[in-house]
Amino acid sequence: MDYAFQYKNNRLFAEDVNISEFASQIDTPFYLYSRAELLHNCQTALACGRGFDFEASYALKANYNPALLKIIREAGLGADIVSGGELYFALKSGFDPAKIVFAGVGKTIPELEQAIHAGISSINVESYAELIVLARLAEKLKKKVTIAIRVNPDIDAHTHAYISTGLHQNKFGVIPDEALRLYQLAKEHAWLRPEGIHIHIGSQITDSDPFMDASRFLHDFIARLSDSGVFIRTVDIGGGIGINYENAFDFPQNPRTYLDKILPKFLESLHDLKVRFVAELGRSIIGSAGILVTRVIFAKDTPQKRFVIVDSAMNNLIRPSLYQARHEIIPIQKNKNAKVTVDVVGPVCESGDFLAKDYPLQIVEEGDLLAIGAVGAYGQALASNYNLRPTVAEYLVNGSSMEKIFSGNSIEDLARLYEKK
Ligand code: LLP
Repeated sequence: MDYAFQYKNNRLFAEDVNISEFASQIDTPFYLYSRAELLHNCQTALACGRGFDFEASYALKANYNPALLKIIREAGLGADIVSGGELYFALKSGFDPAKIVFAGVGKTIPELEQAIHAGISSINVESYAELIVLARLAEKLKKKVTIAIRVNPDIDAHTHAYISTGLHQNKFGVIPDEALRLYQLAKEHAWLRPEGIHIHIGSQITDSDPFMDASRFLHDFIARLSDSGVFIRTVDIGGGIGINYENAFDFPQNPRTYLDKILPKFLESLHDLKVRFVAELGRSIIGSAGILVTRVIFAKDTPQKRFVIVDSAMNNLIRPSLYQARHEIIPIQKNKNAKVTVDVVGPVCESGDFLAKDYPLQIVEEGDLLAIGAVGAYGQALASNYNLRPTVAEYLVNGSSMEKIFSGNSIEDLARLYEKK
């Protein structure tokens, strides 16, 4: 499928909508998602699992806009949640509880109770302490709870340190020997059903090698489990499949996601286990489906740098500041201007506020529009009101029609939250 965000006569379109025409009627910055691209990614994920007993779940943490969740659910995906808030949004968006899995190192008692009441498919336990609390709650509520233990395999995913999760130095999961003990405890408990194993080694992984390491680990560990009388029915292979940031708009020269390069290979390597598989895909589903449209406020030259100061900032998109991510940035209207090396920065009062550093960009001036690519995942989801900047609106394009799917918040909305009742 052609990419939804493409130039036609040097103007960037979102599906059939001319973005500069659309942007002239509304405030900038704004997030803009393509329904076709989102659906395409959902269908790619499902196609990767064909021939396997496979469930593709969507990790709500990447982007929890209900309009997008509806598309994802209707496409046939389940939900992967990490909080009571995400459970609430998943249920409200109509996800079948039998297709919801819940991971996280710090689930609170109310969150665990909500999950038990909802009857979700699996609670993925990440510590001895959590297992004890969960056992007590299951008994108290008289509900059988299906669980997986999240095992930390000590695998280096070769990704940014903040989003590596599968090393023993990380807070996630339990080490294999401890996991064996937890499975035994759970097996002996009347209200727990330890039927699954969960593994998630990190995020934005673009190479299949770490997944092949995970596959070898799973084979060994599941063999050890069956020797000890524990039989696994579901392997939750986590998420983590990367997307293309640096050339996000440059399709078909570059892949937009690594889903089809990695997922079938990973599943194939686990085929002999004869179990059901669940994947928890966030970025690879929604990442390429979103752009952030922002307007140039000023250009500013210093002896060392040229800064392009735009109306979006780290409070709207923190990935460049937090993970040194290099998102592609392109002009909404392409012209013959030369490219110069600039820092694209926002108005926030710290030098950590940048959207791109030393970036080759066509010469732009005040009022010009830019598109920041591949921001569908962990873009708006990580937004804040830092510097009292409002959260921005979100739109969804479907062919030639545009729909506002989030209003953003205004400063007046925020002020109201501080009023004494
Ligand atoms: N499952 C678990 C247990 C996770 O911790 C995560 C992501 C996922 C699934 C989904 O991973 P994905 O398919 O999206 O890679 N804010 C960071 C990413 C944080 C990922 C956290 N966990 C970023 O912007 O790169």
